Amino acid sequence: MYVCICNAITDGEIDQAIASGHRSVEQIYLACGVTPQCGTCRDEITDMIQARLQAASLEVQFG
Ligand code: FES
Repeated sequence: MYVCICNAITDGEIDQAIASGHRSVEQIYLACGVTPQCGTCRDEITDMIQARLQAASLEVQFG
């Protein structure tokens, strides 16, 4: 699914960038080799980062 329409970034690419240690929207753009355009995707990317980090934290805590 495309999260960033302007740059054709998919949720899978964003997941991969998060898994590689990128922790901010700006870092995600850089990791994907793009620059932000309209910025509409920023909130969704932020939500994805927070959700993945929370899930990873729960895995560490509860296995
Ligand atoms: S949708 Fe990502 S910059 Fe426009």
